[in-house]
Amino acid sequence: MNAKEELIEKIKKICDGYDETPTGGYIFGDGPIPCNILFIGEAPGKTEVEQGKPFVGMAGKTFGSYLNSIGLQRDNIRITNTCFLRPIKINQGKNGRKTISNRPPKTSEIELFKDILNREIELVNPKIIVTLGNTPLKRFTKFNSIGECHGKIYFNEDLKKDIFPMYHPSALTYNRNDSFKLMYENDWKKLKNTLNSI
Ligand code: URA
Repeated sequence: MNAKEELIEKIKKICDGYDETPTGGYIFGDGPIPCNILFIGEAPGKTEVEQGKPFVGMAGKTFGSYLNSIGLQRDNIRITNTCFLRPIKINQGKNGRKTISNRPPKTSEIELFKDILNREIELVNPKIIVTLGNTPLKRFTKFNSIGECHGKIYFNEDLKKDIFPMYHPSALTYNRNDSFKLMYENDWKKLKNTLNSI
């Protein structure tokens, strides 16, 4: 078994053994190993589990188009998540019908994958880690909110890696004003400049 297969086996074992609360399945990271750029999101949603890949749903479409806008393709980057399982919430309607929705991962669920994600980073050995949203931000920096640090580079002493925090692409869905869009586009341009300088 090679290192990548070992990683996959470990993720499977953790997810299959997780019985604290129902989950909506799990996925692994996607893209080349090693790779110069590693993007880290929060956790997969329904479409990601169905297709077995991170960022292929609605947020993934937004992510892909901004990625292309700075001259990058999915094939040239590695993308993974802070939590490999899909955290779900089961809601019961007044008519008794159950619906399933996504929820943010609990701290304990992020903790489940701490060593695995560190191992993935070690194998990918990226020049830069781009965190998408608050969940990976809190995992890899001392910041609590993306609003205070996006679009700049920080050094993680433990990992000895550069970290570039960005808003999660789904933030565009919640912030439909022009100034947010402009700021988000600008962060991608800053990422492009940063990539050219490292
Ligand atoms: N959002 C994430 O944070 N990760 C995915 O894989 C998909 C959507």
